[in-house]
Amino acid sequence: MLLLVCLMAATGAAAQSRPASAASSDWPVVAELPGMGRAIDTAATAARRRALARRIGTGTVLIPAAHERDLERDYVQDNDFRQHNTFFYFTQLEAKDAWLLLTVRGTEELDAVLFLPPRNPARERWTGLALGPDSVAARLTGIATVLPTDSLDRRLQRAAFLGPRPMYVPLDVTTRDETRVVDAVFTGRDVRNLRPVVDSMRLFKDADEIARLRRAMDASVAGHVAAMRSARPGMYEYELEAALEAGFRRSGADRMGYPSIVGSGPNGTTLHYDVNRRQTRDGDLVVIDAAAEWGQYTADITRTFPVNGRFTARQKAIYDLVLATQQAAFDSIKVGETTMRQLNQISREYMKAHSDTLCGEQTCETFYIHSLGHWIGMDVHDVGDYSTPLQPGMTFTLEPGIYLPDEGLGVRIEDCVLITAEGPVWLSASAPRTTADVERVMAEGRRARGGR
Ligand code: GLY
Ligand code: MN
Ligand code: MN
Repeated sequence: MLLLVCLMAATGAAAQSRPASAASSDWPVVAELPGMGRAIDTAATAARRRALARRIGTGTVLIPAAHERDLERDYVQDNDFRQHNTFFYFTQLEAKDAWLLLTVRGTEELDAVLFLPPRNPARERWTGLALGPDSVAARLTGIATVLPTDSLDRRLQRAAFLGPRPMYVPLDVTTRDETRVVDAVFTGRDVRNLRPVVDSMRLFKDADEIARLRRAMDASVAGHVAAMRSARPGMYEYELEAALEAGFRRSGADRMGYPSIVGSGPNGTTLHYDVNRRQTRDGDLVVIDAAAEWGQYTADITRTFPVNGRFTARQKAIYDLVLATQQAAFDSIKVGETTMRQLNQISREYMKAHSDTLCGEQTCETFYIHSLGHWIGMDVHDVGDYSTPLQPGMTFTLEPGIYLPDEGLGVRIEDCVLITAEGPVWLSASAPRTTADVERVMAEGRRARGGR
């Protein structure tokens, strides 16, 4: 009884309290400065929390935010912070070192508590403004109860004794801090991995996620077009990469969705080549597999183009077979029926049947050495079960390729697709896709440079 009273007193009316170390009220808040923060779609995040509650029925869910990565130890060349996807999915908050605690008692009762580190003006001089545990955070996130992180342990002790079971934690978070908290409170209890539940939710994108993906697509397309327009024989791969990534960033991308692959000539036959140091030669094809991330969501787009702006007959023949294979897969999609595994098979059969003598004694499908595609979302290879039939809200890539190392010739064409109730739609097809479109955009680039 005494334990119960102490726990209640310790965790009671602290909601939206200002911690002792909080900065003065006129200290600015990151999310309220123009351009610093992005608005949180509080309706979308609340709906996701409710959907999670419906899935699990009962339980206590603890989700940590990411920490700042270490400049010396982690080789942080892009950003020193990217939020954990699970935390972002339920909060859209880019705060460091935060926690989300959800208590679910039947599908109607969901209690959410956000824990944020106290503000520290001295630290913020180094690392930038931060949200603190106060009413501003509550308003911005739509989570009414926001507490300082030093009250997390007490809250968790209470949850461990009195909270609904089982406990759910995303077990892919393994830093010392998270392990300490989870071990201290949950050892010996029924602790389950939250990830399979969340992964199955993430497979179906809501309107907010689709809007983010579209922003990522637009920025990515701008980068691919910029790279094509800048291309000329003799350029180094990294010069193309610079034009590409400038195009992404000019369009507001937060970072690259994954390391940019710019493979010219023989390097185009190495699937994940990202050294990008070779000097291109007249006659080379260049495979660029690169995309922008926007608002935690990434595109995944590949384009292949001749560095001199004109496909040879041989290059065009291989390109057109890859393009037709991609289109055949798209055209085969039956909403609610087809699976990614089936589409992969369809694409292989199509390429095999249409190879003619293009790839010599063998059919070109022999040189299509990867599978057709994968889910996309917050991860470039996003989460979810590949045996699920394609249904509205699902997003994925279609990316057939043919790689002929003996000729130093590789072609991959990769676009992203959204399934809607009316059928599949391309998300990235505004990037030049046919050989005629590619040549036209490259010719425009040459003209803009005065013919050079
Ligand atoms: N960019 C990685 C992939 O296409 O899977
Ligand atoms: Mn891909
Ligand atoms: Mn790709």
